[in-house]
Amino acid sequence: MPKVTVHRKAHFNAAHRLYRKDWSDEKNFAVFNKCSNPNYHGHNYELIVSLTGEIDATTGYVYDLGKLKDLIKSEIEECFDHKNLNIEVDEFKELNPTAENICVVTYQKLRKHLPTDLDLKITLYETPRNFVSYSGE
Ligand code: NI
Repeated sequence: MPKVTVHRKAHFNAAHRLYRKDWSDEKNFAVFNKCSNPNYHGHNYELIVSLTGEIDATTGYVYDLGKLKDLIKSEIEECFDHKNLNIEVDEFKELNPTAENICVVTYQKLRKHLPTDLDLKITLYETPRNFVSYSGE
């Protein structure tokens, strides 16, 4: 059967601060600029979850997008939306919540719930012009 990629878009708002605890405020500002603001700041994150695989001959689906919507809601939106990532999300208590790291954590949280014969790719927009992607390498 043909291989097709299906995509589901999602959204969450979250606050973060980029910094290292072992650096001074001055060094954090030098590296992370205003993203190191000690009072945090927010982003409107846009998420695209992409699954690639063969079309199932019985259903005509690669993966049920309704199921994918529910999975993104329970695993990502309910964990990240309207949260302070540094303070409220366990994965980022010791991991800088950059777009890169949020993308990898999102991949890991979803991967374990999806069939192994489907390839997963995560694309995360931190701003309309800054975005990152991760496919599990
Ligand atoms: Ni930021």
